[in-house]
Amino acid sequence: MIDNRRLFARHYRAKRSPLQSENGSFQFDWVPAWENMGSFWLFALVVAAALTGIAGASLIYDLNGNWTIIRADGDYIIGRVPGGIYTDLMNAGVIDDVFFGYNDNSSRWIGRRNWTYCTAVELNETIKAYQQRNIVFEGLDTYADVYLNGIRIGSSNNMFVRYVFDVRDALEVGKNNITVVFRSPIEAALELYQKQLERYRVPQECPNDVYNGECHVNMLRKMQASFSWDWGPAFPSVGIWKDTYIEAFNVALMRDLVTHVVEKDDTTWSFYADIYFEAGGTDTVTGTVLLTIKLDSSTMQWRKDVNATRNGYGELVWNTTLTIPKNQAKFWWPNGYGSQNLYEFTVDFQRLPDEEPQTRTIKVGFRTVELVQDNLDDGATFYFKVNGVPIFAKGSNEIPISILPERGTDPQAARTLLQQAKEVHMNMLRVWGGGVYESDEFYQAADELGIMIWQDFMFACSMYPVNDEYLESVKTEVNLNLKRIYSHPSIVVYAGNNENEGALADNWYDTSENYSLYKRDYVTLYIDTVKAEFDKVTKGRGIFVSSSPSNGKQAQADGWVSKSPGSSKYGDVHYYNYLTDAWSTTTYPVPRFCSEYGYQSFPFQSSWLTTTNNITELYINGKFMSYRQHHPLGNAEMDLLILENLNLPSFDSVNYTRGIFYLSQVLQSQAIRIETEHYRRYRSYLNENGEGYTMGALYWQLNDVWVAPTWSSIDFTGRWKMLHYFAKDMFSPVIITAHIDWQPSGHVKVYTVNDQLSVLENVTLVTKVFKYDSPDFQPMNENRTLLTLAPACSELRDTIKIDEYLSSYNCGSLQTADQNCFFYFELEKDGSPISPSNYIFPVKLKYSNLSSPDVKVSSVKKTGTRVFEIVVTSTNIALFVWLDSQDVRGRFSKNGFLLVQPTRTLWFYSDQEDVQADQLQRSLDLTHLKDSKWS
Ligand SMILES: *[C@@H]1O[C@H](CO)[C@@H](O)[C@H](O)[C@H]1NC(C)=O
Ligand SMILES: *[C@@H]1O[C@H](CO)[C@@H](O)[C@H](O)[C@H]1NC(C)=O
Ligand SMILES: *[C@@H]1O[C@H](CO)[C@@H](O)[C@H](O)[C@H]1NC(C)=O
Ligand SMILES: *[C@@H]1O[C@H](CO)[C@@H](O)[C@H](O)[C@H]1NC(C)=O
Ligand SMILES: *[C@@H]1O[C@H](CO)[C@@H](O)[C@H](O)[C@H]1NC(C)=O
Ligand SMILES: *[C@@H]1O[C@H](CO)[C@@H](O)[C@H](O)[C@H]1NC(C)=O
Repeated sequence: MIDNRRLFARHYRAKRSPLQSENGSFQFDWVPAWENMGSFWLFALVVAAALTGIAGASLIYDLNGNWTIIRADGDYIIGRVPGGIYTDLMNAGVIDDVFFGYNDNSSRWIGRRNWTYCTAVELNETIKAYQQRNIVFEGLDTYADVYLNGIRIGSSNNMFVRYVFDVRDALEVGKNNITVVFRSPIEAALELYQKQLERYRVPQECPNDVYNGECHVNMLRKMQASFSWDWGPAFPSVGIWKDTYIEAFNVALMRDLVTHVVEKDDTTWSFYADIYFEAGGTDTVTGTVLLTIKLDSSTMQWRKDVNATRNGYGELVWNTTLTIPKNQAKFWWPNGYGSQNLYEFTVDFQRLPDEEPQTRTIKVGFRTVELVQDNLDDGATFYFKVNGVPIFAKGSNEIPISILPERGTDPQAARTLLQQAKEVHMNMLRVWGGGVYESDEFYQAADELGIMIWQDFMFACSMYPVNDEYLESVKTEVNLNLKRIYSHPSIVVYAGNNENEGALADNWYDTSENYSLYKRDYVTLYIDTVKAEFDKVTKGRGIFVSSSPSNGKQAQADGWVSKSPGSSKYGDVHYYNYLTDAWSTTTYPVPRFCSEYGYQSFPFQSSWLTTTNNITELYINGKFMSYRQHHPLGNAEMDLLILENLNLPSFDSVNYTRGIFYLSQVLQSQAIRIETEHYRRYRSYLNENGEGYTMGALYWQLNDVWVAPTWSSIDFTGRWKMLHYFAKDMFSPVIITAHIDWQPSGHVKVYTVNDQLSVLENVTLVTKVFKYDSPDFQPMNENRTLLTLAPACSELRDTIKIDEYLSSYNCGSLQTADQNCFFYFELEKDGSPISPSNYIFPVKLKYSNLSSPDVKVSSVKKTGTRVFEIVVTSTNIALFVWLDSQDVRGRFSKNGFLLVQPTRTLWFYSDQEDVQADQLQRSLDLTHLKDSKWS
């Protein structure tokens, strides 16, 4: 939702006048007062108001731009608004790139200082012509006192809310000095912690030592990850991180617009719109509104009398319900199900024909969403139905776009990230509760790309205070953020917090001695405050779960803190396990919906070299690599998980570290692929324990906030890890997938999963058996079966007794431990693949006798402005063939693949246009599992 109030004058000029009806337009509820108004007259008035600032239109005075930042010692630099202290200090050359080397550590002093931002504003007489004059900060991070001409006009304690300070009397004609004094967030948190401790402790006090973090972030309404996380550094930011302006008006401003679409009946939508006004102390606002919605082949308009009055909560609001014929608007669909139809909805408001015209345009989508929790014999389902269609949620978890809030608002960064989610067939992302409510542009991009959003409220992995001041602040936060984002069709569910129910139920923070106290606080915060405010703003129409994860409706039945919030029978689960074989499906639970699961990996060397110039620092067990690993014992866990299935590089190899980088990504990509396919296979099945009907797989985590070993699939430099390439395969609408069932004896079970809504007939399942060292890439056997794939389901297709089957194809035997073949599956229709190929290794690769092929890039050709054709050749079957374009930025059509033919052609899409083929060829680094560099 774009706040275009400031641009209203321009919009009025550019737009067709609301009084002219287009062909086929509808006009409803005609209000005579408007009839006499010529459109030219309206046009002239608004332009005049904009040019001369005469009363009649509101005035916006932009305060974005350069501000002076004063240090305690009086020294100053020039900074930016919107912005933040780290970016300002970097731009001023005071500190180096904070993401480089140990610079997060050497910049820790920044979070321990107070910082003063100030600016001078020259205002003329015009400002006095308005009855209302406010200074508006869309975002202050976090503890600040705000002064105007030396007079304190207000303070802030929540980075997620908009502050509107009434400066009717303090604003002067002539020069005005606006000063914002930010308190060190570390100091503020400590002070609040000590105050809280006088009553009782509210843990978690401090992060684990290896995070190099700061303490007591749970005392602040601030991005929780800004004091460090297990995947990120501590940058306790301060700054004016969103737009800032003076607004002057006479009576009323439209402040927020909230819409909600529900299916009224078979032929019509009910379209609810709530318009919230800002009007100083006034208790009613009257005027006229013209509501316009541009539909497929028509434009519908309604004129209505507005009489906004204070609701029970003191908000000045007016609401209306519009009826829209279904045949005038197409559904909005998630990615993979149809197009993302969006329609422009415009509200033109005037108090009287000549007073304070304002306009606001948003894009709305017509869709229904249900969170289905139907009872099963044991437990209940948990899945989303959009427009009546059950959707298997495929995707990941998003952490803040930047750990510096001022950079996270970059619209291009948001769009690029979401685009990359769409490219790999994701249809849902969770905005995780330790970050920020993302920018308007983020949700706008999600609307346009069909990425459903699971939106957490910003509480994560901690207990939280519940004193009056805190709850009041949370209420405002929930209220304002909902009003800002609720109209986006992409957002399908809101969750009270991240993992705090689990933390309480499983005593993560030593709360069990006082369980009833913390439980009461839990309910007070997430139910009586967050949910209550949610229900109020959404009028009970929104979808809310108490925690991510939770037992869904059963959580409520359990009094909001379930004995085992991670139950596989209800709601969603988070699942992590670094102690058992990550490539075996027996490791994984069978939940209704898995909203977090993951494994760490290292970024590749080319990414690491953006954070250090000293290649020696990249020694895996050295100081720097340990410093960047925030997950306790993370590097050792990765070694052990690799060792479960693969061999580690020999320790004296000069390429030991690069080998570990590569192997960690093989480990991660295959683990997540195997786990994800496991969840997808369970879409249509229940096991003997009543578990299954799994309908969601959101792995942890999509993106990164620095170069470090983390769970991400896209690293900090934007380079895709091997996992992101495999995400495209495992999330494909149609997949062929297999797992081994060892009970009672080894069987390969082969499934097809079809997420599409149409039946697929005449599909051929090709099952091949390859020997790892089969000469000439010839399969030992090839079997073809004709299938019909039913829509929206997974189906068991074949059960192959491994030993019997393979021994008949000269593969050796499991019993004698010389079995040396693997299964390779393809789905074809009319001779073309309709899904990614897939494979299963009956014997762990470390026990298999793999060949050591010679794999090469044999040619690179430029075939388009940014497109290159790359041919890879091999002397034998090669596993997990990986290409890195190193210093040429871009993406491959496929990477990390199994090469089961002597040549394979792929494509590279470079980010820049001026790249030449020879330059790309020189940059390409190719490796595979049996690369002599480390095997
Ligand atoms: C920051 O300001 C607060 C209150 O204004 C003061 O108590 C504190 O000593 C200051 N901290 C530093 C590091 O200057
Ligand atoms: C504004 O006020 C602050 C604090 O009183 C002062 O330090 C600063 O110099 C003033 N700036 C201007 C431009 O007058
Ligand atoms: C007064 O300030 C407004 C807002 O900056 C500006 O548009 C207008 O031109 C100014 N008027 C005069 C008379 O300078
Ligand atoms: C607006 O509504 C209030 C409260 O219902 C009523 O008292 C007032 O007369 C109405 N004003 C107009 C102009 O309709
Ligand atoms: C306005 O909202 C109230 C409260 O939800 C509802 O009862 C009323 O019907 C709504 N009015 C219109 C015109 O939609
Ligand atoms: C590079 O890093 C290594 C290991 O930390 C260190 O011993 C060496 O002095 C560094 N070299 C330079 C030039 O900084």
